[in-house]
Amino acid sequence: MNEIPRGTLQEQTFYEQVGGEETFRRLVRRFYEGVAQDPLLRPMYPEEDLGPAEERFTLFLIQYWGGPTTYSEDRGHPRLRMRHAPFKVDAAAHDAWLGHMRVALDELGLAPEHEAQLWKYLTYAAASMINSA
Ligand code: HEM
Repeated sequence: MNEIPRGTLQEQTFYEQVGGEETFRRLVRRFYEGVAQDPLLRPMYPEEDLGPAEERFTLFLIQYWGGPTTYSEDRGHPRLRMRHAPFKVDAAAHDAWLGHMRVALDELGLAPEHEAQLWKYLTYAAASMINSA
């Protein structure tokens, strides 16, 4: 018999289900390739090198979806709306941001239900980051 004994079946986190760290690294790497070429978004990023911003966002998403909590160990509580306050996030920035994210997400080739769950979160989070009319 090949039965799994009762009580030992562990639920996988979303992070594990979609392939763990590598998947989130691919997503955010592709997203930042878009940002790097974007005339509206690129100037908003304070650092010359987008690498550290890419790392912060990657670690945030990993933590959010149930992976290691390195983001908060490094950065503390996310407080994302507060951290975005210095930047003018209006409808145009929102649309550009989501556009690059859509491309990056499509290229991941996730299962449709995972893709839908991630996109739902990202669209909701992006809308909540708007701080300028
Ligand atoms: C809606 C359009 C958005 C724009 C224009 C935008 C822009 C920015 C900019 C300019 C930074 C600073 C880069 C840095 O130094 O780290 C930043 C940081 C960050 N953003 Fe966004 N962002 C947007 C939406 C989002 C959303 C929806 C999320 C989460 C799902 C997010 C997560 C983060 C994180 C985790 C950081 C780093 C925070 C830290 O300092 O630890 N952003 N964003």
